[in-house]
Amino acid sequence: MATTQTSASHVWPLGTTIAADGTLSLGGVDARELAQTYGTPAYIVAEDDLRTRARRFLAAFSERTDDFEVHFASKSFPATAVLSLFAAEGLACDVASGGELHLALNAGFDPKKVHLHGNAKSRAELQQALDAGIGDIVVDNHDELDALIDLIRPGARQRILLRIAPGVSPDTHPKISTGGPNTKFGFNLDDAARAIERAQASDKLDLDGLHFHIGSQILDLAPFRAALEAVAKLGDFRTYNMGGGLGVAYLDEQSAPEIEEYVDKKVALMREILGEGKRIADEPGRALVAHSTVTLYTVQSVKHNVVDYVATDGGMSDNLRPMLYDARYEALVVGTSQDAPREVRHLAGKHCESSDILIHDFPLPAVTPGDLVAIPVTGAYGHAMANNYNGQPRPPIVFVRDGEHRAVVRRETYEDLTRRDL
Ligand code: LLP
Repeated sequence: MATTQTSASHVWPLGTTIAADGTLSLGGVDARELAQTYGTPAYIVAEDDLRTRARRFLAAFSERTDDFEVHFASKSFPATAVLSLFAAEGLACDVASGGELHLALNAGFDPKKVHLHGNAKSRAELQQALDAGIGDIVVDNHDELDALIDLIRPGARQRILLRIAPGVSPDTHPKISTGGPNTKFGFNLDDAARAIERAQASDKLDLDGLHFHIGSQILDLAPFRAALEAVAKLGDFRTYNMGGGLGVAYLDEQSAPEIEEYVDKKVALMREILGEGKRIADEPGRALVAHSTVTLYTVQSVKHNVVDYVATDGGMSDNLRPMLYDARYEALVVGTSQDAPREVRHLAGKHCESSDILIHDFPLPAVTPGDLVAIPVTGAYGHAMANNYNGQPRPPIVFVRDGEHRAVVRRETYEDLTRRDL
């Protein structure tokens, strides 16, 4: 059979090849070898893809401004190896809880390059951030201002940003829109002046600037203008953090703004609306990690009801996105010719829920149990939202690069499932 190498479409990680006979190679490693070595489901991460995107963000900013910071939104892929790689590449880190702060510091981020988010930070989390000496605390509400002022020792100071809800909703799934007028995040515009006044009045706080995040998986960049215009009316500050949110293409037919286009837009908006001399911060998650990862599954059963169901050994325990946001993905049956006839089928998971369908109505070739299926673009919010539903041990994370592979997180075991029992 012909094994002509065809380059994979833009949804696959850098360094992927898919041959005409369906042989899949990730970072120079055959997907079948990976499945044999590590079992399935497994998250396979192309290290070069992560590094390249980090470098593109940093280069795009540094070509346009001297004063910037790119924070990796660690919630999107909170694994130590991913965090360490980004720390080494020179990114800063956005954490949204004490647990994420612990992960970031443990992975080697300089505390000064970490900032803490959260709409319900506990006193313990605030204390943890103060003790670690992190860069900024992004204050979300008046209760948090009270707690912070109370916790900071007399004579000490903490740099903060205030999170503002600019009242702008981008075109994305409502469940991942975060900056509209009725959001749970941040100070509303009509409350922001009082928050600014309170922060500036405290001798324990250095109010460095304002922060907003309007949502995630944003493909149309236009709403950033309205958001920045709204926030610009609140005063003149040194730092503006415009959040993350850059969307990615999950499907062959989809396209998303390039990293450079997104950075160009944000830096240009800052200059136009706020003038020169401002520091711009950004906190991308998805756009850094989504494309790095492919999840490998093994088909367990195939049945025909009203439509065919192809059931895999994973599902909503390793990828909640289809169930939560109706997210759609591509899939490749490894080792099946690209030209094989296809029929529309449901690619299902193994969990006890009818909603546990990884891809509805997807044109799949004929498959049998034991076949390997690969789903790309699973790096963002896959591992992050993985869970043990139905006692499913969470998958390993395997880095691939230049023909080499190494597990950076092992598969959970049944012993792990009882480890917390007392
Ligand atoms: N900064 C803040 C304050 C955020 O709330 C988020 C994401 C980010 C940055 C990173 O956004 P990104 O660049 O990844 O769009 N679980 C959902 C996504 C939830 C995003 C929540 N906030 C999903 O799987 O689509």
